[in-house]
Amino acid sequence: MCGVDALSEAIVSLKNVEKWFGDNHVVRNMNLDIAEGEFLTLLGPSGCGKTTTLRMIAGFEDATEGTILVEGERVEDKEPFQRDVNTVFQNYSLFPHMTVYDNVAYGPSIRKTPKAEIRERVKEMLDMVQMSGYEKRKPDELSGGQKQRVAIARALINRPRVLLLDEPLGALDLKLRKQMQIELKRLQKKLGITFVYVTHDQEEAMTMSDRIAVMKDGVIEQIGRPAEIYRRPKTRFVADFIGESNIFEGVVEHVGDRTGADGSASGGARLLGIRLGAGRVSACGEGFSAGDRVYVSVRPESLCVSREKAEGFDLPASVTDTVYMGTLTKILLRTADGQEVKYSRFEQEEDLRESMGVYLCWQPEKAVVIPAEAERGESR
Ligand SMILES: Nc1ncnc2c1ncn2[C@@H]1O[C@H](COP(=O)(O)OP(=O)(O)OP(=O)(O)O)[C@@H](O)[C@H]1O
Ligand SMILES: [Mg+2]
Repeated sequence: MCGVDALSEAIVSLKNVEKWFGDNHVVRNMNLDIAEGEFLTLLGPSGCGKTTTLRMIAGFEDATEGTILVEGERVEDKEPFQRDVNTVFQNYSLFPHMTVYDNVAYGPSIRKTPKAEIRERVKEMLDMVQMSGYEKRKPDELSGGQKQRVAIARALINRPRVLLLDEPLGALDLKLRKQMQIELKRLQKKLGITFVYVTHDQEEAMTMSDRIAVMKDGVIEQIGRPAEIYRRPKTRFVADFIGESNIFEGVVEHVGDRTGADGSASGGARLLGIRLGAGRVSACGEGFSAGDRVYVSVRPESLCVSREKAEGFDLPASVTDTVYMGTLTKILLRTADGQEVKYSRFEQEEDLRESMGVYLCWQPEKAVVIPAEAERGESR
């Protein structure tokens, strides 16, 4: 499941990796292959083991068990300076006594690169991170965001084959952060460097990554392309963590015909009738039987609200709040059993007023059905 395309070779490979700090089990049976040139993001909440995983790939931290290969060699067999891996940390310390220019020029200088080439490369890097004109400043004359940009330039100038980045944009304001996301991604593609990127910001992960590994409690819950993870979350945690979702708990009552509408090549999905605490709904799912406990995940933009029941649905709710946000309207509703439901829409359809009684529905193939066991397995 975590494998890369058979045609592309894995440049970083984790096999059955475990990490314990004392009796704290922080990385659990991790298997991950990262393809050359790939932008892979480790995404997850605080404390889930992202930095620890990155530090093990960098060779700063030993795995308790398992193997980590970078370019086919075990990381522990090489000294950090021998590795084609560079790291940018959130609080990267620049050399304080050196100017911005000398900090960025450091890598190529110790490799005895010709001076003219160094000048050209430093200029290119400082332009890229929008720090031209700051060449003569010392790090303590820079803001946090500026230091971070110099740190990125200092790592990228070495053109490492693998660059590890731990929340590199965390200190930047939103506007600069969005701009840097695009710049970094563009540069990564241009230079063909493999990025292993850590963030807890799901929007950042969605914007930048070729693949995202969603982590929780030291476990990769799901790995895949951003759109795949958004559209087909495999666990309740992933559905909840990536974007906004309405998650209903229920039991499969009826398994209908094949729909072929699940978006998968096999088209083995069936139309399921599902009983919820507050009503009855329909959704497409594969491999379910009557009596199975499930979660039904529906994005706010996939929800429909109507004054009448739709076929296969009987889920009454009442409007509690409407918030107009320019072109988008966000509406909160509540089902009979008290569950809050988020609904968003772009155009103004019928007027939804507070405390109005309505029925909720959706196109069955727009909902994702997740086995409740998947969630039980992940909780500890
Ligand atoms: N050197 C250490 N010694 C003991 N425990 C540690 C050490 N480093 C990390 N941990 C613990 O390991 C767990 C994972 O930490 P890690 O720093 O990898 O999380 P993270 O996903 O990077 O979180 P954040 O988003 O907050 O940076 C945490 O419970 C943390 O307290
Ligand atoms: Mg961290």
